[in-house]
Amino acid sequence: MINSKQIRWIEVNDYQEMSRQAASLFEQQLLRKPDSVLGLATGGTPIGFYEELVRKYKQGAFSFSEVKTFNLDEYVGLASNESTSYHNYMEENLFSQIDISPDNIHLPNGLAKDLLAECAHYEQLIQQNGGIDLQLLGIGVNGHIGFNEPGTSFQSATHIVTLAEETRIENSKYFHTKQEVPRYAITMGIETIMQAKQIVLLAFGEHKVASIKRIQQDGMSEDFPASCLKEHPNVTIIYGK
Ligand code: GLP
Repeated sequence: MINSKQIRWIEVNDYQEMSRQAASLFEQQLLRKPDSVLGLATGGTPIGFYEELVRKYKQGAFSFSEVKTFNLDEYVGLASNESTSYHNYMEENLFSQIDISPDNIHLPNGLAKDLLAECAHYEQLIQQNGGIDLQLLGIGVNGHIGFNEPGTSFQSATHIVTLAEETRIENSKYFHTKQEVPRYAITMGIETIMQAKQIVLLAFGEHKVASIKRIQQDGMSEDFPASCLKEHPNVTIIYGK
């Protein structure tokens, strides 16, 4: 269905198909530009995508030896080796299985002493590396992308966020208790994300239907962060339930 000038909508029948379609877009990107700068996301949604990407890599379809990665976000206060950190998620689901150089992997440091300086440094590193070629996104039930909660300025750069209560509840499934879910995170800003040359957003399941409908049907509003994508020239949304 196409109901916006720019967004390319791909509706899929199952989770595997969503993962395959997304991996195929990343494959095309890596074949076109082996030294791509990839923007990566965490959460339950892209797990199948990473499996598919690793499978293709192991078949020899492409290499990550020249690739650089920047993740969207990280919780504040979690050590990188803690099981619930996004550092650990990425290591398990992707980095430990591919030929990427550790020097080329970037995630915000949620343990930095000076968090504001860390945000500025992260933003600068992305620019210094030429910007993101292809950015992967998931979507929170409240429309957040990265950890940009409703109300975040569309002009925001990498910054510290106070997580919305609904996000802490939603993400508590990855922790033993809700109390363990950190209250703060570092995230790329909306403007950082919008500067990516190409964006792929994945959403799967009944609980994401309302969010997808809001992007399709409503106008742009900072109350619904993902609506910013309507202004981007190269977005693909792959979704299903
Ligand atoms: C977290 C991440 C987001 C992700 C969202 C959805 O809040 N910061 O980047 O999109 O979760 O996660 P899930 O895919 O588990 O629904």
